[in-house]
Amino acid sequence: MPTVLITGASRGLGLELARQYVEAGWRVIACARSPAKAADLGALAVASNVRMTVHPLDVTDHGQVETLARELDGLPIDVLINSAGVMGRESFADQGMAIQRFGQTDYDDWMHTLRVNVFGPMKLAEAFVENVAASGQKKLVTLTSMVGSMGQNTFGGLYAYRSSKAAANCIMKSMAIDLQRRGIIALPMHPGWVRTEIGGPRGELDVATSVAGMRRVIEGLTPAQAGRFLQWDGRELPW
Ligand SMILES: NC(=O)c1ccc[n+]([C@@H]2O[C@H](COP(=O)([O-])OP(=O)(O)OC[C@H]3O[C@@H](n4cnc5c(N)ncnc54)[C@H](OP(=O)(O)O)[C@@H]3O)[C@@H](O)[C@H]2O)c1
Repeated sequence: MPTVLITGASRGLGLELARQYVEAGWRVIACARSPAKAADLGALAVASNVRMTVHPLDVTDHGQVETLARELDGLPIDVLINSAGVMGRESFADQGMAIQRFGQTDYDDWMHTLRVNVFGPMKLAEAFVENVAASGQKKLVTLTSMVGSMGQNTFGGLYAYRSSKAAANCIMKSMAIDLQRRGIIALPMHPGWVRTEIGGPRGELDVATSVAGMRRVIEGLTPAQAGRFLQWDGRELPW
């Protein structure tokens, strides 16, 4: 039975990833910042008949990441998915767009956005690389975003979120190169514009469609796709 570890599994894409991987018969290590508040995830774990376990994990708390890594020492993890993410303040996704305007920068919040969206995936990869290397599938995926693409930036703004996702693309590209010799396929993936708290109600996709697409892409990944910037339906995006 293959194993997947998912961060940010309390809601949105992370929760749907957990749901679909459980349904597909995988062992799921679901990480959530506050499991006690993640009722849907808890119910899913109970229904999974112990194939899914829930672990408290704030990805900015490196001590907590290291504790979980010690707990899971020796357990092969076929797929590690960094889904935990934040958009940063001054965003209005509920209105269909998100803006971090020039002149309104909240630097503390920007730093928090970087801690979650960039340092989080980096720390998870460093903490669990041996688990991934010991697995059959050896895949390391971070949900970044097309708004981290320079080529697709046509309306400006969004300084904190864009820069965090561009940086996340950068680290996944480097990891793809550095970890290829260990047989690990690392890459950034854009889930599409999805109706979640981050995507807002005007998103183009529902979570089920996005996650089904991403699972298909992840399932079919080849070493030649390491370090490519792919989206949920397998299409490649410009950096
Ligand atoms: N939805 C879209 O259109 C879209 C587009 C491009 C990229 N993405 C990316 O996809 C990923 C998932 O987003 P989503 O759409 O599912 O958003 P969401 O519904 O807002 O979910 C965000 C998740 O991240 C978790 N999280 C936030 N800070 C965390 C921390 N410090 N430690 C651990 N978990 C933390 C949240 O946990 P709590 O419940 O504890 O807050 C929640 O589970 C994000 O990386 C996002 O940037 C989404």
